Amino acid sequence: MYNILITGGAGFIGTALAKKLLTLNHKITIIDLKNKFSSIHNEFDKYILDIIDYKNFSILKGRSYDFIFHLAAQTSSVISQVEPTLDVDTNVKGTLNICNFARECNAKKIIFTSSMATYGNVKGKVTENNKQIPLSNYGVSKVSGEYYINMYNQFGIKNTIFRLFNVYGPGQDMLNLRQGMASIFMAQSIVSNEIKVTGSFSRYRDFIYIDDVVNALILGIDEKTDLSIYNVGSQEATTVAQLIDLILEINDKPKDDFKVINIGSHDGDQFGSISDSGKLVKLGWKVKVPLLVGMKNMYIYAKKVLL
Ligand SMILES: NC(=O)c1ccc[n+]([C@@H]2O[C@H](COP(=O)([O-])OP(=O)(O)OC[C@H]3O[C@@H](n4cnc5c(N)ncnc54)[C@H](O)[C@@H]3O)[C@@H](O)[C@H]2O)c1
Repeated sequence: MYNILITGGAGFIGTALAKKLLTLNHKITIIDLKNKFSSIHNEFDKYILDIIDYKNFSILKGRSYDFIFHLAAQTSSVISQVEPTLDVDTNVKGTLNICNFARECNAKKIIFTSSMATYGNVKGKVTENNKQIPLSNYGVSKVSGEYYINMYNQFGIKNTIFRLFNVYGPGQDMLNLRQGMASIFMAQSIVSNEIKVTGSFSRYRDFIYIDDVVNALILGIDEKTDLSIYNVGSQEATTVAQLIDLILEINDKPKDDFKVINIGSHDGDQFGSISDSGKLVKLGWKVKVPLLVGMKNMYIYAKKVLL
């Protein structure tokens, strides 16, 4: 049993991770911003803590943690383009604060959720050795986070970095129309008969189900190779057009009732990226939930939230 701190623990992935770690008998503390917690977080030791200011960590003074899962972040590439300072403050300065707190609380390791956004556009599958050429401020801030975390290895803090591809599933914020292609289109299909697409229909993504991502992150606890990086993706490309077809297929409403419109693109948007997750597969991980099954689960969840 370990003492584990999860930053961003009230977010989509953080909540799912915290729940799973609790079933494995670890002691879980979660931190997040004000107004982020709901009754589903009552089973955890929880604190309101904005990671941007190191002073705020005094609330955890004297506590020690074996592992820190660092998930707290400004997570939208769209917002990173219009509010780059918020992005830097949260993802760069916030991550540096986590590194310093890891020293203060004697953590063995930081397990960090980086992103496929650090790669930019790559033809074919992306391996961990691909050059990182981010196209958004968000991507740049995530690369910086990786560098800071690696740099703190010299102070004895190990790390495992997971570069997540497009995570989707129940628990995702269905009201946030600035992050999550699958959740945005699905929400639109439920509350209206119109799906608004920004950018080309032939753009593609690598969608990976929330439970598969949580299983990958947990492998970080026992991962012994220091300074390791793992891609976490399904290794399959799904185009925007295919995703919309699938959503309309799952939806109870007749397919012909829908209007799909293109409302123009935004900068910082990647054309496409597919993961080569072979390195993670060698660690014993595999994709358990195919896209159709995962999207059906998300549809049931989304209807409960939105209707
Ligand atoms: N969802 C994806 O597809 C995806 C893909 C690649 C990487 N990631 C990374 O995974 C992590 C989790 O993402 P998610 O999808 O759960 O997003 P999310 O937005 O649901 O969760 C992020 C959490 O961080 C919290 N947070 C933001 N600023 C904070 C601050 N200053 N102090 C404390 N907490 C703060 C938010 O309130 C939120 O609860 C992030 O680091 C994200 O960059 C996600």
